[in-house]
Amino acid sequence: VASKRSYHEKVIDHYENPRNVGSFNKKDLDVGTGLVGAPACGDVMKLQIKVDDNGVIQQAVFKTFGCGSAIASSSFATELIRGMTLDQAAQVTNKTISQELALPPVKLHCSMLAEDAITSAIKDYRSKRSKAPSMQPPAA
Ligand code: FES
Ligand code: FES
Repeated sequence: VASKRSYHEKVIDHYENPRNVGSFNKKDLDVGTGLVGAPACGDVMKLQIKVDDNGVIQQAVFKTFGCGSAIASSSFATELIRGMTLDQAAQVTNKTISQELALPPVKLHCSMLAEDAITSAIKDYRSKRSKAPSMQPPAA
């Protein structure tokens, strides 16, 4: 039966089968790293993006030390921003994430963590590229 999946199931699914867990070498020039913490609870999230020369996110990975909602938020966020340009990804807000996962109010800061992590990964990537001697992609 094609019943509508409840949001609750969606959180659990992302929690039990998180997508894109992993990390990239943060020294790579095509990688941006965001590392953020939630003062409210002490949870920490690392989210990394790999960006091609057209400014499109090819891949996103994360590692989250935190609650289920934070893990689900980062898992969902990595799926969401893959294929986006940096500008598009910069528009992603915690609202998008918390609505998709239907987080309860007390868990809203968990999705905020994902928004902050995306923002900070983009910032890191841009500052690295602006300091890079050339726009050549790193040697394979
Ligand atoms: Fe941080 Fe949930 S309060 S683990
Ligand atoms: Fe703190 Fe989820 S990130 S309770």
